[in-house]
Amino acid sequence: MDTFDCIKTKLDIREFSPEEVPAEIKQRVLEAARLTGTGLNTQHWRFILIEDEHNLNNLAKDSTSGNWVAGCNFAVIILTNPKYHFHLIDAGRVIQNMQLAAWNFTVGSGVFTGIDKDNFRKDYDVPDELNISAVIGFGYPARKLTGKRKDRVPLDSLVYLEKYGISNKS
Ligand SMILES: Cc1cc2nc3c(=O)[nH]c(=O)nc-3n(C[C@H](O)[C@H](O)[C@H](O)COP(=O)(O)O)c2cc1C
Repeated sequence: MDTFDCIKTKLDIREFSPEEVPAEIKQRVLEAARLTGTGLNTQHWRFILIEDEHNLNNLAKDSTSGNWVAGCNFAVIILTNPKYHFHLIDAGRVIQNMQLAAWNFTVGSGVFTGIDKDNFRKDYDVPDELNISAVIGFGYPARKLTGKRKDRVPLDSLVYLEKYGISNKS
């Protein structure tokens, strides 16, 4: 898929079909993560791949805003090192790259950041020095997305020309 089309059509998915995502696609998603750039090329992040149904259900229990993750095919926990002030920028970049890499193969995904961190740390043996930044759940969408439109503000209310507040409209 063309990169722009991939960005344009990708939506966050919270309802998944039971269809299995092939191992090669999962590998591509993880490879997309690995290839993403980090501040100072520190590559401080670590990823935990969750495929086991019991662990997916646990993810939902440990979440305050991602119950839907129980229904996905696999999930990736994104851990970043808060000693780098830019660690959450790195998290955002890798999340988007994984989601786009998946969507290129029509695999949908959703993100959640609402996490019961104490339980989470225990359940997945997350070391104290790493921040639990987000979880992405992946799977084929439960239904076709054609009807759903993105809800975004128009470009001219986002982009200014040369200085803040100057309209970019000619
Ligand atoms: C930083 C960030 C945090 C998010 N946290 C959650 C979350 O906790 N739970 C959830 O269901 N979705 C979460 N989302 C998904 C957003 O709700 C979603 O990106 C937004 O509604 C746009 O969705 P759309 O692209 O399908 O239109 C998060 C997205 C981002 C970028």
